[in-house]
Amino acid sequence: MNTILITGGAGFVGATLALGLKASRPEARVVALDNLKRRGAELNLPRLKAGGVEFVHGDIRQEADLAEAGPADLLIECSAEPSVLAGYGGSPRYVIDTNLAGTINCLEHARQHGSAVIFLSTSRVYPIAALSALQYHETETRLDLEPAQALPGASGAGIAESFPLEGARSLYGATKLASELILAEYGAMYGLRTIVNRCGVLTGPWQMGKADQGVVVLWAARHHFGGALKYIGYGGSGKQVRDVLHIDDLLRLIEVQIDRLDDLSGHTFNVGGGREVSVSLQELTALCREHTGKTITIASEAETRQADVPVYITDNARITEATGWRPAKSVDDIVADIARWLRDEENSLQSILA
Ligand SMILES: NC(=O)c1ccc[n+]([C@@H]2O[C@H](COP(=O)([O-])OP(=O)(O)OC[C@H]3O[C@@H](n4cnc5c(N)ncnc54)[C@H](O)[C@@H]3O)[C@@H](O)[C@H]2O)c1
Repeated sequence: MNTILITGGAGFVGATLALGLKASRPEARVVALDNLKRRGAELNLPRLKAGGVEFVHGDIRQEADLAEAGPADLLIECSAEPSVLAGYGGSPRYVIDTNLAGTINCLEHARQHGSAVIFLSTSRVYPIAALSALQYHETETRLDLEPAQALPGASGAGIAESFPLEGARSLYGATKLASELILAEYGAMYGLRTIVNRCGVLTGPWQMGKADQGVVVLWAARHHFGGALKYIGYGGSGKQVRDVLHIDDLLRLIEVQIDRLDDLSGHTFNVGGGREVSVSLQELTALCREHTGKTITIASEAETRQADVPVYITDNARITEATGWRPAKSVDDIVADIARWLRDEENSLQSILA
C-alpha cells in the first residue's frame, strides 16, 4: 500500500486510523480528506500534521475534491453524518447526500484508480423493530439478552450478520445499508476489492462525544467537566446496554484486513466489543465516577425515544473465525483511557466537550 486515502480523515475514526497506519507504514503516503463538519475535528489537524499525514480540506459530495486528493491503493471510507437521529424533524438532505451519494463518489474514485475499499458501516443497518423484539431480562444493573432468541442471527452472544434486514432502521442506517449494496456491485462488476465492517459503538480518546453520537465520551466528559445527564427510556433507570470497542482494537483489525485484503475481500463483518466488552448506562456512570473521581446527578425520563433500542451486542464470531481478531481492551480500560485523555487535553477540549 503506497498511498492510503482516508475520507472523514479528521474525524474520530478516520484520524485515529490515519495516524496509526502512517506510524506502522512510515514509507506510505497517508492522505486524510475531511470537510470539518464535525465540531472538534479541527483539533485533529495539528495531530495529523505532526504524524506525517497529509490533509485535504474537501467534501465527498464533490467529485472534484476527491480528485484533488489523488489516486490511492486503498480508500478507507470513514466520512459520515454518523448520528442515528439525522433527518428527524428536518431535512434528510445532508445525511443522504453524504452517507449515500458521497460514498458513491468515493466508490467512483476507487473504480477510476483501482483502489481497494474498506467501508465503515454500522450495526444500525439492522432494523429497529427487530432489535427491539429481542428477548431480554432485567438484572440489577442492566438488560441482559436471553441465550435463546426467536430471530435468526440472534443469540445470547449478540447479533450476527444473518440477522433479518427487513424494516426501518433510521436514515443513518438506511444510507449505510444502501452504500453496502452499491459497494457489493462495484466488487462484482468492476472487480474492486472491498471489505465492510458493521461496527457497534466505537469509542476512545479523541472522540468528540455529543448527545446523539459518542455516548461513552459524552458520559465521561460530563463527569469530568460537570454538566447534566439523563437516563432516557426503558423506565429511566439506565439499564440499556451497548457493546463498545476501543478504537485501538479497531485499528488492529484494519491492519489485519489490509494485510489480508485478497482473501477477506467481498465479506461483511459485524465488529464490536461483544458480550465481554459491553456496558449499561448505569454501569458506565459507576465507571465514570471511579475514573474521573467526580459525581454528578443523573436525571431520569421513563419514556423511550424513537430509534432507540434496549440492547445491542455484536456477535464477533465471523470476524474472529476469519482472522483470529478479538477485542483486547475492557470497558474499564476504555473509560480509564478516556478519563486520562480528558485530563491531559482539558484546555483544548473545554470548548468542545464542556
Ligand atoms: N463512532 C462510532 O461509534 C461508529 C459506529 C459505527 C460506525 N461508525 C462509522 O465510522 C465512520 C466514522 O465515524 P466517526 O465516529 O469517526 O464520526 P466523526 O463524526 O468523528 O467522523 C466523521 C468525519 O466525517 C466528516 N464529514 C462529514 N461529512 C463529510 C463530507 N460530506 N465530506 C467529507 N467529510 C465529511 C466529519 O467532519 C467528520 O470529521 C462513519 O462512517 C460512521 O458511520 C462509527
